[in-house]
Amino acid sequence: MSGVERFRVVGGARLSGSVSVPGAKNSVLKLMAAALLAEGTTQLSRVPSILDVEIMAELLRRLGCTVDHADDQLSITVPEAPGHEADYDLVRRMRASICVLGPLLARCGEVSVALPGGDAIGSRGLDLHVEGLKRLGAEIESEHGFLIARAPQGLHGGQVWLDFPSVGATENLLMAAVLAHGTTIIDNAAREPEIVDLCHLLESMGAKLGGVGTSTLEVQGVDRLSPAAHTTVGDRIIAGTFAFAAAMTQGDVEVRGAVTQHIDIALDKLAQAGAEVDGGDDWFRVSIDRRPSAVDVVTLPFPGFATDMQPFALALNAVADGTAMITENLFDGRFAFVHELVRLGAEVRTDGHHAVVRGKPLLSGAPVRATDVRAGAGLVLAGLVAEGVTTVSEIHHIDRGYPDLATTLRGLGADIVREPEPEASY
Ligand code: EPU
Repeated sequence: MSGVERFRVVGGARLSGSVSVPGAKNSVLKLMAAALLAEGTTQLSRVPSILDVEIMAELLRRLGCTVDHADDQLSITVPEAPGHEADYDLVRRMRASICVLGPLLARCGEVSVALPGGDAIGSRGLDLHVEGLKRLGAEIESEHGFLIARAPQGLHGGQVWLDFPSVGATENLLMAAVLAHGTTIIDNAAREPEIVDLCHLLESMGAKLGGVGTSTLEVQGVDRLSPAAHTTVGDRIIAGTFAFAAAMTQGDVEVRGAVTQHIDIALDKLAQAGAEVDGGDDWFRVSIDRRPSAVDVVTLPFPGFATDMQPFALALNAVADGTAMITENLFDGRFAFVHELVRLGAEVRTDGHHAVVRGKPLLSGAPVRATDVRAGAGLVLAGLVAEGVTTVSEIHHIDRGYPDLATTLRGLGADIVREPEPEASY
């Protein structure tokens, strides 16, 4: 149904109150893939009710697994010999499906994953996944729209230097290396908190890892892994969404359940913008009673400013006092939503991977369209500070990563509802 619904936001409310964040989308999808590494039942807790989890659950079912999701608990029972083909219809809907490549190759010695094709945030390659797996002994070819990987003699340990600390490539290599013969070193590995979370599950399953949380991961392959139980790390990007929403609306919001350290750099930006920020290990509070000041932002791999929060920084600067430069270093398509923000009256000029934003006291409500999950959330934030009514369409993108964003924002005092998209009259 969500494909024909939209959000209707009436701007002007000052957000205040307390929210709790769910488990992280970008962790749980990989934890679900990691379950494939062991026969038996892996139990995941703090699993968010979002579309991407449903898609990954369907993918696992098609591979022969039994998946049950009740409340925030997910159990995945993996057969002795899972299937090894991920179809185009699911991979197309969710690019993260590519994370079954490493575990299935390790477990089955063979895997076919449909190539994801284009997506809304740029030309996201798979070369680092492919080159890394080849270093572990995989033979890989692309045929009829599928990436086919085989390791007829089994995978072996190897040294991999990633040209770029890719999150997805690091995860696929980790999940392949845990069952390879010998030791693998992944250098220039990504060290996002979601990768650390994956490492913790793998360790509970019996994997031997060193350098967890650093850019040099050492994996000593083992013969087999056992299923385990694990609680998903809190979603730092959702936490950041509410932090920016608080600052933009000149509000006062407490956010619970994410590791504050995971978004230190974003909170520091909000402090630079004039917000008061305080908190403890797993909660923080952002309050501000004046218009925020403009702040420059540069996206980088963790611990740099997350590209997933870049749309929120853009939206904040659209109503800040002053001019800011936003530099996007991760994804070439991530400014696509600027056209929509401009429809709300924002003054933004992009040039390559830079955007210059001149803040205005208020935006002006209009119909806009979500182009991806974070851009969609950024537009909702912009709607909160736009005069009159903003409608955000194509919210299936937002549903991919946010369990019921409208209800949570309403709890903080926002005027936002989910409503049917009116039928086109032509
Ligand atoms: N890249 C390559 N070749 C590769 C792999 C990556 O050129 O083989 C490039 C990509 O094209 C991109 C950059 O490297 O320009 C970063 O890609 P990365 O592999 O690090 O990202 P990802 O694994 O595809 C995950 C998250 C993204 C998040 C990024 C960066 C998931 C499911 N997705 O993507 O989250 O933006 O890491 O932190 O974990 C989102 O949640 O909205 C989202 C897009």
